[in-house]
Amino acid sequence: MGNIALSTMGKLRSTMCALLAVSALASGASAESDVDKGRYLVNLGGCSECHTPGYFFGKPDEHRLLGGSDVGFFIPKVGTFVGPNLTPDVDTGLGTWSEDDIVKAISTGITPDGRELASMMPWRRFAKLQPADLHAIAVYLRSLPPVTNKVAGPFGPTEQVTVSVFKIVPPDASK
Ligand code: HEC
Repeated sequence: MGNIALSTMGKLRSTMCALLAVSALASGASAESDVDKGRYLVNLGGCSECHTPGYFFGKPDEHRLLGGSDVGFFIPKVGTFVGPNLTPDVDTGLGTWSEDDIVKAISTGITPDGRELASMMPWRRFAKLQPADLHAIAVYLRSLPPVTNKVAGPFGPTEQVTVSVFKIVPPDASK
């Protein structure tokens, strides 16, 4: 009887150890996989097109990945907007933004200073992402090497623009 009790205890203990080992692995893996999942979603979401310099000239600068675009989008009567630096640089990127700030901007278009992001930033589409996916995107952005690069603008509709632009040209503009 005593022997059986002892061997049951032994089995229990080894099961516990195995469980602990599995949960340690799982928590380690989930921190890692948030970054991986975020990288995957950022790739799918095309963020780099509008937020990495050189992308629209066919030569994305991989050393300044998501470090801010060099091409703006002009909307008549509204202005010109350049995809900002999304790396955690404190002065020129999102270094002072919390994870919630990033999630809110991506999914509601509202920045921490209360401004609504211009329409070419596809936040209306990203609003449909699951909270866990938005979290992973923010975690990935915060894991990027900081790049020091302050993008130009935003420019008012009549202001002199200092970058190349994509332009919405109304049909009567040629008349
Ligand atoms: C088609 C171009 C485009 C794509 C694709 C795009 N963005 Fe943007 N994004 C912009 C532009 C332009 C702005 C600036 C808008 C403004 O200033 O009103 C912006 C602003 C932002 C901001 C606010 C940054 C700040 O400093 O105010 C965040 C955060 C952001 N984008 C994240 C993302 C993420 C993450 C993705 C991919 C999941 C993404 N964007 C995809 C064009 C884009």
